[in-house]
Amino acid sequence: MSLTLDPELRRALAERVRYCHEMGIYDFYRREPVISELTEAESETSEVLSSSLSAVSTSLASEPREGMFSSKAAATRVAGEGKLLETNSPAEYRVSDPVAALKLIREDLGNCTRCKLHQQGRKQIVFGVGNPRAELMFVGEGPGADEDTQGEPFVGRAGQLLNNMIKAMGLRREDVYIANIVKCRPPGNRTPERDECETCSPFLMRQIAAIKPKVIVALGAVAAKNLLAINASMSELRGRWYDFKPAGVRSSDTAWPGARLAVTYHPAFLLRDPRQKGEAWKDLQMVMKYLGIEPPKKSAE
Ligand code: URA
Repeated sequence: MSLTLDPELRRALAERVRYCHEMGIYDFYRREPVISELTEAESETSEVLSSSLSAVSTSLASEPREGMFSSKAAATRVAGEGKLLETNSPAEYRVSDPVAALKLIREDLGNCTRCKLHQQGRKQIVFGVGNPRAELMFVGEGPGADEDTQGEPFVGRAGQLLNNMIKAMGLRREDVYIANIVKCRPPGNRTPERDECETCSPFLMRQIAAIKPKVIVALGAVAAKNLLAINASMSELRGRWYDFKPAGVRSSDTAWPGARLAVTYHPAFLLRDPRQKGEAWKDLQMVMKYLGIEPPKKSAE
């Protein structure tokens, strides 16, 4: 069947496919229309759209573009029912070493200009820091002024408190991995906006899939709501476990079942309201119990 596609429809389809790629969705199935439920005209439209999506996806796969997986993306044809389309998969799928995987993700991120934060005064991208094989990962909201200057998450006052929380758990900062929902400083430390979180999130998902932590601690409501895609108050979010699998991406370790996720207060909130530190400690104790970590013994003064 020859395909003459309305340019506007083609553009919209291309955008859709790009969006799916950026969300980490690569495998497109062509679902056969249920003919009995379609009129002839609908059936024709469905066939055109299905073929177009295939064409758009395939052409995007070969089109160089600054996208999530642009630089090292591998074109793959996934075996199956023979109806899958050409897809791009992230470069790190080919490596099992988390150090190499994180490096590839960082390279794909490049000097990111995918959202407006790149034009709003950020000095540098704050990718993440810590042990690439960490069992425990902390996710905050976004870099502040100190993090923007130093290129490392949680290095300011809130970072000092996070370090103390990690130490109280009997761990060192180098044992865990620390990242944020967005990797660029929002101007004036405002809350990152939805489109910014959505644009940045696939990279965080890929970091999580590469690190394969046992536990993720979401620091504050912004991190929790973005990771869990639910809108709830801190009192509803805290005090329980969530099963967490990074959306749209695979881990190189097929045996990795995903992480457990707990929510606690953001250290910056605890600086403003230190009375809540006891509550945060309860959250961390829940995490320690699960990971089998004994709190360090207090040395006699
Ligand atoms: N607050 C965050 O959420 N992240 C940082 O990196 C620093 C402060």
